[in-house]
Amino acid sequence: MAVKEQWTYITENQPKIALNHFVSTEHLSTSTVEALIKRTLQIKNMPQSEYPQVKGSWVSNLFLEPSTRTHLSFQVAERHLGMEVLEFDPSTSSLKKGETMSDTVLTLQALGVETVVIRSGEEKYYEALINNKDLNVSVVNGGDGSGQHPSQSLLDVTTIYEEFGYFKGLKIAISGDLSHSRVAHSNAELLWRLGAELYFCGPEAWYEESYDKYGTFVELDDVLEELDVLMLLRVQHERHDDPNAELLKETYHYRHGLTEDRERRMADQAIIMHPAPVNRDVEIADSLVTCERSRIYRQMQNGMFARMAILEAIQNGRGLKENVYALSEKY
Ligand code: CP
Repeated sequence: MAVKEQWTYITENQPKIALNHFVSTEHLSTSTVEALIKRTLQIKNMPQSEYPQVKGSWVSNLFLEPSTRTHLSFQVAERHLGMEVLEFDPSTSSLKKGETMSDTVLTLQALGVETVVIRSGEEKYYEALINNKDLNVSVVNGGDGSGQHPSQSLLDVTTIYEEFGYFKGLKIAISGDLSHSRVAHSNAELLWRLGAELYFCGPEAWYEESYDKYGTFVELDDVLEELDVLMLLRVQHERHDDPNAELLKETYHYRHGLTEDRERRMADQAIIMHPAPVNRDVEIADSLVTCERSRIYRQMQNGMFARMAILEAIQNGRGLKENVYALSEKY
């Protein structure tokens, strides 16, 4: 699918980002990403009383897979923006009776909902919604199976930019469950595009060739001292069908995880990231989760501001649909 431009200038003096949907980093131009990073940090650094407002706009959060961070930080972001939030419980909804996602979103649209935030185990579920000519609802992807997690990517690149102020030449290792990780899929392409030098680490069986174009598969121990960022991935036990899962947990840490010994070998400026939830003593030693170089909880905090920037951009897009050339594109 072609990458399409998704932002424009609302006025000459005040550039604002306008999006129709936010479903995949691959649909975002680099200038859009840079603008979203800057807007996220702008919102983070403003007093709460000056937060942008999109009052009166209805949004619904449909989380069909478990989530703490993404779900709750979207909720908080929506409330900070003054949005009307219609919560949706899949376990008591008519999805249980076989209603499709498209018909569910059509129903929400009939009730006045303009934006849906969706997490689903189905990869690219959003294409059916975006291509449905009866739907005029903006879709924000909160994670689709092993596909994409674009709002996680925005908070991750914002956290890196906040730390270093640039991307070009930063040495970043993405380490762990690469084949199952939507975080890795969205971050690899985006960080490569922003100019980072990428390494991929972890069990070779969990590597996939699609990463070849973005970086090099290496042993973590061979690059550890050179890294600026070590981005650990959660071992997604729920997506593995491995009879030796318990053994895997025990051996993974010493073979591939961040042990205290490995942390001591990292460069002074290097930071540790993890999208969480963390499997303590698997991907990372329990004692390191909140250590000085860990940015794990800053990532979560930045997630709230990133999601405010995304929802603001969606609202800008909805407000301008009639007269902005860039928004005549589907995405
Ligand atoms: N990082 C992340 O997506 O966490 P949740 O699954 O808790 O939303």
